[in-house]
Amino acid sequence: MSEQLPVAELRRRFASNFVWGVATSAFQIEGAARADGKGPSIWDEFCRVPGAIADGGTGDVACDHYHRLESDLDLIADLGVTAYRFSICWPRVQPAGTGAYNERGIGFYERLVDGLLERGIQPYATLYHWDLPAELQHRSGGWFGRDTAYRFAEYAEVISRRLGDRIVSIATHNEPWVSAVLGYERGVFAPGVKDRRIAYQASHHLLLSHGLAVQAMRAAGIKAELGIVLNMSPVRPATDSELDAHHARLEDGRLVRWYTDALFKGQYPSDIVEHLGADAPVIQAGDAALIAQPCDFVGINYYHPTVSSSSNPASPASSGAAVTDMGWEVAPRGLSDLLLRLKRDYRLPPIYITENGAAYRDQFVDGRIEDEQRRQYIESHLLAVAEAIDRGVDVRGYFVWSLMDNFEWAEGYRKRFGIVHVDYATLRRTLKRSGLWYRALLKSVNA
Ligand code: FCB
Repeated sequence: MSEQLPVAELRRRFASNFVWGVATSAFQIEGAARADGKGPSIWDEFCRVPGAIADGGTGDVACDHYHRLESDLDLIADLGVTAYRFSICWPRVQPAGTGAYNERGIGFYERLVDGLLERGIQPYATLYHWDLPAELQHRSGGWFGRDTAYRFAEYAEVISRRLGDRIVSIATHNEPWVSAVLGYERGVFAPGVKDRRIAYQASHHLLLSHGLAVQAMRAAGIKAELGIVLNMSPVRPATDSELDAHHARLEDGRLVRWYTDALFKGQYPSDIVEHLGADAPVIQAGDAALIAQPCDFVGINYYHPTVSSSSNPASPASSGAAVTDMGWEVAPRGLSDLLLRLKRDYRLPPIYITENGAAYRDQFVDGRIEDEQRRQYIESHLLAVAEAIDRGVDVRGYFVWSLMDNFEWAEGYRKRFGIVHVDYATLRRTLKRSGLWYRALLKSVNA
């Protein structure tokens, strides 16, 4: 195990205006699935499909954040973060995804945003972290339907009018690759569709909706910075064979370039369009320019590298590597490599690391929660960010995933990512060792 760096030394590697945060998402923590007029989302429905969630968990209660807002805000403030990244549950503010808005739902996010500001914390919002109003799935196949992109832009505009004066940053989407590929190609996430053609059409509509939403929010005069959050991973071949190199190139195209080329070069990568053949999406004139309109920032979520071979084009670990409880390889170098590659290949807006963290099984020792591996994971990845910054990458902030243990999608509650422990029987929150360390880092004197 590596030595712990003195926190002040680590902190000195970052500029005094670097943004330090923690991240969550609505479905994973809020609970209150039917409270105050909220409509059902595709995740509410997916959790009811037998076998879809490993432990049979649902988002009905989750961390009950919806009912514990004030004390959770105090918990966030106690960490000393400068920013909090959360997502807005679309069917909470517009139950059917079209038509009437729900004042009580909007009111919750107003209280959240105002509560953050009162505590001196900058609100970083994400408009879509996977909880699509179920009604839109039933009406038009969710993101498969082009109409969903227009519905999303309208919802974005309403949020920007109601909250845009108080939110510092708005990301349209969280990880459109996950929405499209895990949701519509592999079917392991909501809505559970398994069809590559549908998935790529969905990915196009997700990106299109980003462009339409940015345009609508700018037209509404929003002051917040606007961007998108992408999950990314450096992709490397498992061996030095030409075949593995071929699979790595393709996987890099599907995972990274499909999104970054569309957003920052104005076109989908031609090798992937060709590889998709008849499954390539239908694109209308003008779509590419809409998708590629300028953004103020790009968020990067990084957890692990991807290793490609003919038997598995997208493995989250090389054989024999140290892995987390998710089976994801611990590779801080992957993050600096990724950032340097993006700098080399693209002209990106400023970058935020909008998620980074690890699932481990916590050890209870004399009432304390020992998670030294998670602390080390965060420390080593922060050092990788510092190195990339030293080498000229414009990274402005870092958000730990996650503030607290929560509903980890298809894994249910079995995997814990929090720097705060949640006892699901009592919903009590307790800072883990990693949380105490992060707090000490954030409160250490800045150079
Ligand atoms: C990311 C998600 C986030 C969380 C982490 C572990 O893909 O954005 O909600 O589940 O993985």
